[in-house]
Amino acid sequence: MENKISEEEFQVCFQELSSGRHLNRNQWRTLLEGRNSERAELLAQKASELRDRIYGKKIFIRGLIEFTNYCKNDCYYCGIRKSNKNASRYRLTEDQILNCCRAGYELGFRTFVLQGGEDPYFNDERIVRIVGKIRKEFPDCAITLSIGEKERASYQLFKKAGADRYLLRHETANEAHYRKLHPKELSLAHRIQCLEDLKSLGYQTGAGIMVGSPGQTTETLMDDLEFLEKLQPEMVGIGPFIPHHDTPFREKKQGELEQTLYLLSLVRLLLPNVLLPATTALGTIDPRGRERGVLAGANVVMPNLSPENVREKYLLYDNKIHTGKEAAECLDALRASMGEIGYEVVVDRGDYISKTEEV
Ligand code: 5AD
Repeated sequence: MENKISEEEFQVCFQELSSGRHLNRNQWRTLLEGRNSERAELLAQKASELRDRIYGKKIFIRGLIEFTNYCKNDCYYCGIRKSNKNASRYRLTEDQILNCCRAGYELGFRTFVLQGGEDPYFNDERIVRIVGKIRKEFPDCAITLSIGEKERASYQLFKKAGADRYLLRHETANEAHYRKLHPKELSLAHRIQCLEDLKSLGYQTGAGIMVGSPGQTTETLMDDLEFLEKLQPEMVGIGPFIPHHDTPFREKKQGELEQTLYLLSLVRLLLPNVLLPATTALGTIDPRGRERGVLAGANVVMPNLSPENVREKYLLYDNKIHTGKEAAECLDALRASMGEIGYEVVVDRGDYISKTEEV
C-alpha cells in the first residue's frame, strides 16, 4: 500500500502508542492508513516484545466446544443464521459436551470454551447444569462461555455456576456499520450493555471484530479501537471476515491477511496484557495464518474439541479449517509449528495477567 503519510508522522504516532499514551483520532488514522510492509513489521516486533515481556514465549490453548449451531439471530455475515435453511442443525448432549472436556483434559487443555448460536433450547437452567458439571469435574480448569446476548441475571447465574470468562465480540462499535451487519432486532447498544454487564460481574471478558467486514472503514476501525480502549477487555477476538455461500454477504470480499495481522499488533500495543487469539478464521485464509498471528502479537490458539461428525456443521464461513482432523492430531501439529517460530504450547489455564500482577 503506497501512501502519503510521512515517516515522521507515522513514527510519532507509533511512539505514542508504544509508550501507552492515549491517541486521538487523527493519530489512529495515521497508524491505520499508514500501513505498509515495513511499518507492519515494526509494529509486529514491538507487539511481540511486549507480549513476551508479560506472558513469555507461551501460547495458551483453549478447547473449543461448538455445542449447538441453532441460532435465533439472523446476522447477515454468519453461516448459522436462522434463515440459512441449508444448515444442518445439531445440538450436543450434556454427556457429549462432558466427553469433549474429558478428552480435552487428557490432551492438556485447561480452558474449555462452550460456544454456540443463540439457541433457546439451552435456557439458563440447562447452561447452569452443564457449567456446574464441568466445574465439579474439572476444578482446575477455566470455563468460558460464548453464547451471545443474555440478561444480566442470566450471566450472574452462569458465573455462580462456575463460568469464569465470556466471549462476545462487539463486531463493530460504529452504529451505522452495526446496522449494515445485523437485522433490526439486534442493537449495538444492547451488545455493549451485555459487555458491560459481563465486566461488572467479574468475568474475564472478550470483545472483538471481523476485519474487512462489509462496510468497515478507517472510521469504523477507529471507533473499534477507541471502544476497546474504553472497555479494557481481557480478551479480544480478531479474525478476517470470510464470506459464507448461504448468506446475504456471499459475494462480499474476504478480509485481508495483512490488515488482520496489523490490527492484532495494534490491539497488543493498545492493551499490552490482552489475551489475543490467532483465530481459526486467520488460519483459514492462510496456511501460516495462525503462526503469523503469533508473530504479530497473538498468544492464544483455540483448537476444536467438538466431535468430528458435527464439525463440518458449525460453519460460520466457507472453507473453515480442520473439519476432519482429530483434536490430538491438530495439537501435535500446533506444538510443532509454534515450536518452529520459538513458542511453546503450554498446559495452563492461561489467565489474564493484570498490570498490577506483572512481574
Ligand atoms: N467470517 C468470519 N467470522 C465470522 N463470524 C461469524 N461469521 C463470520 C464470517 N462469515 C465470527 C463473528 C462471531 C464469531 C463467533 O464468529 O465475529 O462473533
